[in-house]
Amino acid sequence: MPCLPSIQATDKRLKNYKIAIMPGDGIGPEIMQEAVKVLKLVEERNDVTFELMHALFGACAYFEKGEAFPQETKDICDQADAIVKGPIGLSHEESKKIPVDEQPERGALLPMRRRYNTYANYRPVFLPKGLAHFSPLKPQVIGEGIDIIMVRELVGGLYFGEKEVGVNEQGLRYVKETLEYDEAQIRQIMHHAFKLSSGRKKVLHNIHKSNVLKSSVLWNEIMEEVAVEYPDVKVINILVDAVATLLCLKPTQFDVMVMENMFGDILSDQGGGILGSLGLMPSACLGDDKAYYEPSHGSAPDIAGQNIANPYSMIGSIAMMLEYSFGMVDEAANVWAAMQEVFTDGYSTADLSKLDSSVTMISTNEFGDKVVGKLRAMPIV
Ligand code: IPM
Ligand code: MG
Repeated sequence: MPCLPSIQATDKRLKNYKIAIMPGDGIGPEIMQEAVKVLKLVEERNDVTFELMHALFGACAYFEKGEAFPQETKDICDQADAIVKGPIGLSHEESKKIPVDEQPERGALLPMRRRYNTYANYRPVFLPKGLAHFSPLKPQVIGEGIDIIMVRELVGGLYFGEKEVGVNEQGLRYVKETLEYDEAQIRQIMHHAFKLSSGRKKVLHNIHKSNVLKSSVLWNEIMEEVAVEYPDVKVINILVDAVATLLCLKPTQFDVMVMENMFGDILSDQGGGILGSLGLMPSACLGDDKAYYEPSHGSAPDIAGQNIANPYSMIGSIAMMLEYSFGMVDEAANVWAAMQEVFTDGYSTADLSKLDSSVTMISTNEFGDKVVGKLRAMPIV
């Protein structure tokens, strides 16, 4: 895994960390269990203690407490130095059992993003050359490997704009959703993207749709203003629809990409697609005072409880927490390396082994156990 600059690291002298653990719904508890195994080993190997505070969040919280983001969960998250969250949500049919505004995405996830103002969402899209066989793209397209970080603005745009539903003068039902950003919101996400880019290849792709959207016109204006502060970073402006094509045709041209909320939601799932599985998509959601870490994918209710889900995204989210919230950059790199070694030994969970018959399929907890075995064998720097 690439080494990301630690721009969120808290005071490194603080060695006792409180971590809120919210397994979520569907495959969440299974993949969280593996992530917690890794976290416990990290605690054992390093001069840190982790106080894990378990909390209900999502549909499970709604069914048990009547709210998807109950007050006691808020209290735990408020106290925590970092939050680790599993995927949430139910199948389309099951969701209908919950009132629209309490459904976990609207009732828990968006309120959490807003509560902690976690505006900077880092979504690594990473596939080293040796794992090219997992990707649906041809090896010659993957070349030396894919190594992108998508920086998605997470608390603005259509997700949080005003909404109106009603019946118009012609008697037709209508809906209106607004896409709103102010310059401060754009500027703060740009600083994240530029700092990240400065510590990597110094090429920043700015994703927009300024030929249609006024929001993108302002977005690009602010981008130009902020760019002046980072003369070493080359900015490439590119339309969002063109990016969708280029991610398939030539993903290796991208390093850091910055985009607004909705574009980031869509393109990051495409990122999972070019890797071969959304199970390879961890993420960090960073605010100025609080951060939480979650897989970029959903709760996959269709495969829940079968011990076949890929815990990579959840364990990768732990690695991102070690780096960004606790400044444990070397140990984070070890966790990434441990996972890559499991793959290069020829193992993977069902999502990826289905794509390649030379890979031996292992279960969710076998994957976790192998990662733990690899990490245990790694020297502590
Ligand atoms: C994501 C997810 C969420 C989003 C859903 C669950 C609300 O798809 O984190 O990408 O749209 O942001
Ligand atoms: Mg999404």
